[in-house]
Amino acid sequence: MLMLPTLAGDRRVSLVAAADPRREARDRFAHEFGGRAYDTVEALCADPDVEVVYIATPHALHERHAMIAAAAGKHILVEKPMALDTRACRSMIDQARAAGVTLVVGHSHSFDAPYRRARALIVSGQFGAVRMITAINYTDFLYRPRRPEELDSEHGGGVVLNQAAHHVDVVRRLAGTPVASVRAAVGDWDPGRPAQGAYTAFLQFTGGAVASLVYSGYGRFDTDELCGWVGESGQPKEPGDYGVARARLAGAATPQDETALKEARSYGAQAGLSPAPPHRFHHHFGFLVVSCERGELRPVPDGVMVYGNEARWFDALEPPTVPRQEVVDELYDGVVHGRSPIHSGEWGMATVEVCLAMIRSAQEGREIALRDGAASPP
Ligand SMILES: NC(=O)c1ccc[n+]([C@@H]2O[C@H](COP(=O)([O-])OP(=O)(O)OC[C@H]3O[C@@H](n4cnc5c(N)ncnc54)[C@H](O)[C@@H]3O)[C@@H](O)[C@H]2O)c1
Repeated sequence: MLMLPTLAGDRRVSLVAAADPRREARDRFAHEFGGRAYDTVEALCADPDVEVVYIATPHALHERHAMIAAAAGKHILVEKPMALDTRACRSMIDQARAAGVTLVVGHSHSFDAPYRRARALIVSGQFGAVRMITAINYTDFLYRPRRPEELDSEHGGGVVLNQAAHHVDVVRRLAGTPVASVRAAVGDWDPGRPAQGAYTAFLQFTGGAVASLVYSGYGRFDTDELCGWVGESGQPKEPGDYGVARARLAGAATPQDETALKEARSYGAQAGLSPAPPHRFHHHFGFLVVSCERGELRPVPDGVMVYGNEARWFDALEPPTVPRQEVVDELYDGVVHGRSPIHSGEWGMATVEVCLAMIRSAQEGREIALRDGAASPP
């Protein structure tokens, strides 16, 4: 649902086919895009008109679906987290390489224009080396309707693999060197909804920078209050809508009710969920400040606030024409021009490695050193 405005709105993409076990999703796709709708990924990948497969199935299926796509010679865009462990990530990378296809992992929020602009400002050298990154995100993640396994950390549920996959991705891109070590604590505070619901993590990068990540999905304070009441997808938010996620969920008495509530928001379940026009703002992942030797940068949904030694100014971005278009830029460059993507399989795997180290650090109560540092940034 989140990528549909991107894929339907970008003229470089033609939606020719799709696969989903749900009949209503297939019917809706055939009706809306006039494309072929299959009930298996195997059948989709056997379609000769398909060049690229966007894999947006539950995490545990990413590896299998990527294997099927690579074996059929299709290029791959796979959602975050890339997979549930580094073994699966590695085999996806190896299969894509053997098949000679491009593999991009995303969308993840380091694709977003404000972080890219901040990264460009860092690379310009104007502010000196990155020393410290503070990244804070408070959301209602835990109270959005979920299938049972989405709350089960054994199956990649909870906020670490789901949300730190964005947080870690953003700070890795801004720090610009591999992660050397991780210390984290993970919170599971609501007995009525046992799951990883919050984390605090301290990351040290090989280049000397550090990052602190704070995330809570407990649906009370909302960092969008610090982001001009602009939501993660660039949508304006109504400050008066306090507690809506919890209130909506309170109507679901059983896991089956909750799954039904989730499916009611899935593609094809109801009319009116098709590509929305883009918002004035870019996507983002909460409040973040990068402290460099000679300045501070704060990406916001319409640009970057820059704090120098003598002056403060705003580096404005044009509003997006197609949301998340940066994902198609990278994919297109890989598929059409053969350029190596930034958000490659190695990149996605390194992020998964840091997320898993966060969980281990919390379980073992100690700092975890990453073997070679998580993969070097491009
Ligand atoms: N980048 C982001 O901002 C973002 C946001 C939300 C979700 N995601 C990622 O997208 C992925 C999907 O998440 P979701 O919440 O939409 O999941 P979901 O449970 O809604 O499933 C997504 C779709 O996959 C279909 N599906 C299930 N099994 C399938 C199969 N065997 N073959 C083909 N299709 C199948 C479902 O019917 C559904 O249409 C996850 O990896 C999640 O982390 C990313």
